[in-house]
Amino acid sequence: MTKTRTTIFEPFKIKSVEPLPIFTREQRAEILKKAGYNLFLVPAREVTFDFLTDSGTTAMSAEQWAAMMRADESYAGSRSFERFEKTVRQLTGYRYVIPTHQGRAAERLLFSALLKKGHKVPSNNHFDTTRANIEQMGAEAVDLVIPEGKIPHVQHPFKGNIDLAKLRDFCETHRENIPCGMLTITNNTGGGQPVSLENIRGAAAIYRQYGIPFIMDVCRFAENSIFVKDREPGQNNRSVRDIAHETFSLADGCMMSAKKDGLVNIGGFIALKNDTWVERLRSLLILTEGFPTYGGLAARDLEALAVGLEEVLDENYLHYRIAVSRYMADGLNKAGIPTVQPAGGHAVYIDAKAFLPHIAPEKFPGQALACELYLSDGIRSCEIGSVMFGQNSAMELVRLAFPRRVYTQSHFDYILEGMEELVAKKETLRGFKFTHEPPFLRHFTARFEPIT
Ligand code: F0G
Repeated sequence: MTKTRTTIFEPFKIKSVEPLPIFTREQRAEILKKAGYNLFLVPAREVTFDFLTDSGTTAMSAEQWAAMMRADESYAGSRSFERFEKTVRQLTGYRYVIPTHQGRAAERLLFSALLKKGHKVPSNNHFDTTRANIEQMGAEAVDLVIPEGKIPHVQHPFKGNIDLAKLRDFCETHRENIPCGMLTITNNTGGGQPVSLENIRGAAAIYRQYGIPFIMDVCRFAENSIFVKDREPGQNNRSVRDIAHETFSLADGCMMSAKKDGLVNIGGFIALKNDTWVERLRSLLILTEGFPTYGGLAARDLEALAVGLEEVLDENYLHYRIAVSRYMADGLNKAGIPTVQPAGGHAVYIDAKAFLPHIAPEKFPGQALACELYLSDGIRSCEIGSVMFGQNSAMELVRLAFPRRVYTQSHFDYILEGMEELVAKKETLRGFKFTHEPPFLRHFTARFEPIT
């Protein structure tokens, strides 16, 4: 009888390496103190495992580097743009492709063309920069994720789904003030959770019924598609490419931060089915990003992205990719560290409130845990809780987001091995207080000290 193997190995070999900086706990204590106990202020050269974000931190492939050398850096009409445009058209089925330097540039462009004061934009959850760009126009970003999507310990295969009943009511009531409707796949704000194809179809039908253009935020479209293949009844026999095609076909257009599933370090785009907004968008693009055939990017970035958008659909890669966060979540849970359930595609979110109940939210349990993860193993994570959102934060989470194709299983095994020790001493962890509190976006530059 053959035994089924459960290990999922990295489906690549490594051609170029970079040493990891390794320090002692004492050295890290000094570094952390100097950085005001804010991990954003710790230099990357003093971080061993950098899980701050999965955005722009991808390791590129040999094919991508080779394509970069072939780039045509002409100001207008470059060959590289043609290649990029063709790839995006084939992937999405959308005709009009507008490059931007990253996701938020696409957001600013689209929303400044579409939104006015008093407008409302529904979605499952808007990402921070999406929300900020909507609010910047005097409009309102409305989150309508299903109730399960808000409770960390609840299991649900598609926790990123939008509540279709609420969406219908919302569109019925506010139709005149909704210039576009959205969905974020996967739902980063809700824990990197996928949206089912059935739910995307449902949302598309509602938007269509009310004549509202449907624009998706697709920065993790490939991770969403592999979850659909693995979890949604009836989808297992389809290729991820086919699932991705159907996903795109349901909307009128998309915005993408290519720094995620584009497998590149910089880049983004808007792609649209019809030309209604295209002229306006291209004029705005020229104003701040650049000519429509490069939009704030070098042609070599467009080349790397054209290759990345193809490579990301490799199912061996995608199975390995979602296994990373599942493996980490399972390991943490086994050690007694609660995480948002199930694991997301690009990240694991530790529930610091449940793990450190002796630290009150106003003493920042997430910050306490993030600092301890740095002290013990040189891990850089990101607090998503009361430090980031103030007193309004419903959860106290610490996000470990995994760069694509960068770390290997032994890194994760090493980290998990240390978790027993962390659990054993969790009662000794203390909260933090501000010594410097900037008026807005305080998490980036705030300074803290431990409460003794
Ligand atoms: N939309 C989503 C769902 C995102 O996760 C991000 C970025 C953006 C838009 C903005 O794209 O960074 O290229 O301007 N998320 C990163 C993160 C920053 O760490 O989650 P960008």
